[in-house]
Amino acid sequence: MTNSKLFLSARHVTKSYGDTPALKGIDLDLYAGEILALLGPNGAGKTTFIKIIATLLAKTAGRVQILGHDLDQDLRSIRHLFGYVGQDTDRSAYARLTVRQNLQFFGLLRGLNKRTIQEQQDKLAGFFDFRENLDKLFMHLSGGQKQTVVIMRALLHDPPIIYLDEPTKGLDPIIGKKIRAFLKTYVHQENKALLLTSHILTEVDEMADRVALIHDGRIGVVGTPSELKQSVGAAHFIELERDKVPTAVCERITALPSVTGILERELAWLSFGLDDPFAGTEAVMRILQEENIVTKFRNQGVSLEDAFIHHIGALNSKFD
Ligand SMILES: Nc1ncnc2c1ncn2[C@@H]1O[C@H](COP(=O)(O)OP(=O)(O)OP(=O)(O)O)[C@@H](O)[C@H]1O
Ligand SMILES: [Mg+2]
Repeated sequence: MTNSKLFLSARHVTKSYGDTPALKGIDLDLYAGEILALLGPNGAGKTTFIKIIATLLAKTAGRVQILGHDLDQDLRSIRHLFGYVGQDTDRSAYARLTVRQNLQFFGLLRGLNKRTIQEQQDKLAGFFDFRENLDKLFMHLSGGQKQTVVIMRALLHDPPIIYLDEPTKGLDPIIGKKIRAFLKTYVHQENKALLLTSHILTEVDEMADRVALIHDGRIGVVGTPSELKQSVGAAHFIELERDKVPTAVCERITALPSVTGILERELAWLSFGLDDPFAGTEAVMRILQEENIVTKFRNQGVSLEDAFIHHIGALNSKFD
């Protein structure tokens, strides 16, 4: 990303609600053409940070620059540079207006002319298969349909930057997939930038170019999904039923050169990290045979969820 244009930079951003600190110094860069995911436990500060850069919440201290504009000085210009979808979908549009009326209202509010609004609305509704819902009242839509409207609203003015706070929450797999595909194309082909949060880690793994782990108001780790997974210490696992493997056998397996160690994943399973899944599995199987152990086994690749648990666990002990 080093050759890409810097769209957003946040430095030492802090935020306290009363006496309670929620952000303790966030440094983050967002580049053109990238999807950056903020991951973190509930209450970590993700929404607080997004609301600050979306100008909906005042920060306590720090500096934010968006496409050369300072958040503290150029609020008006900055508001045209991004689209935002918050966590609270129900309150993001007028219940008693139709989808079309809502999009028109918010488009006009942004200073778009009717023709542009119409064109954008047609394009987005076509893409999201949403034409048949355009004349329905917002309050009569399902949760996922409302979410789709709110995403369309955020994209109406074709902004260079998009902030999405849990965008596919409550969406069925088909529309979720469509929205992910649309966003990936939008960002990568049109050189936009997307900052999103999500607790669906398979989605983040599929979409994000980089991931920032936020925990207790600080950014702990930033990297590509594969970098984060690699830092768990193994690329693959072999898992055996814990109650079928005596301690002595477990020790023999752990001592194998192809086994990187035991990882804590699930209570019922012993998880051995492997660098090379084929050689590692073969070596483990040989020991099981020699020891006459009968156990189910499963092979798995390290997931972003493993990386999340690994890092958040480590950060917990670092910050405690
Ligand atoms: N309006 C508010 N007043 C007081 N405290 C708040 C307010 N909003 C958030 N907080 C606190 O700030 C911290 C960060 O909250 P935030 O909503 O940013 O977390 P989050 O990472 O978005 O969590 P989630 O994954 O649950 O959406 C939490 O401890 C929360 O209780
Ligand atoms: Mg949140």
